Amino acid sequence: MTEVGEGAPHAQDLERTPFEILNGDYSVELRKKDGLVVTWKRDGRIIPVTWRSIQDYEGNTDIPRGFIQSARTLGLQVVEVGAGLAEFIPELALHQERRPIVIEPIDYRRLIDMLSEASSHELIDSDRALVSQVVKRARIYADPRLVRLYPVGIEKIKRYKELRGIADVVIDVVGGLIYTGEMGKWREYIDYLLKDDPPGKFYHSYHPS
Ligand SMILES: C[S@@+](CC[C@H](N)C(=O)[O-])C[C@H]1O[C@@H](n2cnc3c(N)ncnc32)[C@H](O)[C@@H]1O
Repeated sequence: MTEVGEGAPHAQDLERTPFEILNGDYSVELRKKDGLVVTWKRDGRIIPVTWRSIQDYEGNTDIPRGFIQSARTLGLQVVEVGAGLAEFIPELALHQERRPIVIEPIDYRRLIDMLSEASSHELIDSDRALVSQVVKRARIYADPRLVRLYPVGIEKIKRYKELRGIADVVIDVVGGLIYTGEMGKWREYIDYLLKDDPPGKFYHSYHPS
């Protein structure tokens, strides 16, 4: 699975005027070749915050194609771990009455401010469109009417008794299970979230061991 920003540089990359916006442990950067890069730091480790599309999710992971459509139709309770700025949850949230749940420790409000500041810089059209798209998504993630956001790492999940057995589906696409310091416990966390009967499903981008 390719990371956002990978690939051959386009001629327009050369027109970019790079900048970096810092706020505490958060950084929003425009790099000449990679374009927009958003990161935050935890325990000295730099964690990328990416914005994969639904196509990326359904094409490069074990999420079945058309899943978002069936989740809406069936009104499934979806939980995403480490959603970042991905398209999937905002799309679901706008078209489903049942609010999706997100387990994601980033501070969306801070990112909204930083990305809004980024949009005041000189940007080529494609970067401007991307910044505007991810700000819109961040606003949806931060809106409690649309998303039930738990702003914690997955390793804290058992603090929330209301989340036990709640999920028809848990999704993790290069999200919390890779970045948690407690990788060996991933099955325990996922099982805590999944419904027993009928059993919930876990879709992800890799097979942790
Ligand atoms: C590489 S991004 C992936 C974002 C999105 N799933 C995508 O594919 O575009 C990893 C995300 O996992 C989040 N994350 C890091 N540690 C986490 C943890 N312990 N629990 C839940 N999410 C975590 C990060 O904040 C970041 O947004």
